[in-house]
Amino acid sequence: MEKVVLMLLPLILGAQILKHHCDRCHKSQIPYVMIYKRALLLYSSKERIKRNLTDFLVSPSADKSILPPGLKRRFDPAKHPKFSKEIAQKAIEELIEQEDIVKKFRTTTKKRTSAQVSSASTRQR
Ligand code: HEC
Repeated sequence: MEKVVLMLLPLILGAQILKHHCDRCHKSQIPYVMIYKRALLLYSSKERIKRNLTDFLVSPSADKSILPPGLKRRFDPAKHPKFSKEIAQKAIEELIEQEDIVKKFRTTTKKRTSAQVSSASTRQR
């Protein structure tokens, strides 16, 4: 029980930067889970995810985008809002932490996980 509370704490207290600067778009259009999955596949380590996604947010461009080509055409990544390095870094840290925690819970709710995973992977192709 204590473990669960500890794992939930960052979700309750944290994610302030995401909430203020990012949620208004990312709660609907491009979900964090999708960004995180693609970043994990491409960059493997959290350090590299952090470095590359921060760099994208500071100076967004199509070259740096990790979105599948279809989405890149639909939303031009070069037009993504720019952020200071500080905000970008904190936001990405929160994103990684949040998705890692959500992932831990998803493994216990199998039904949702497989549905989400399959819909995410068909979207990527
Ligand atoms: C005005 C709406 C909007 C806001 C605000 C916004 N985003 Fe985005 N974001 C988008 C859209 C649309 C895309 C997909 C197109 C793209 O990649 O730019 C995206 C894509 C991304 C990507 C993937 C970029 C790529 O193409 O590889 C990351 C990472 C990201 N956002 C993080 C953030 C973070 C973190 C914040 C807050 C600091 C944020 N975004 C704020 C709309 C927004």
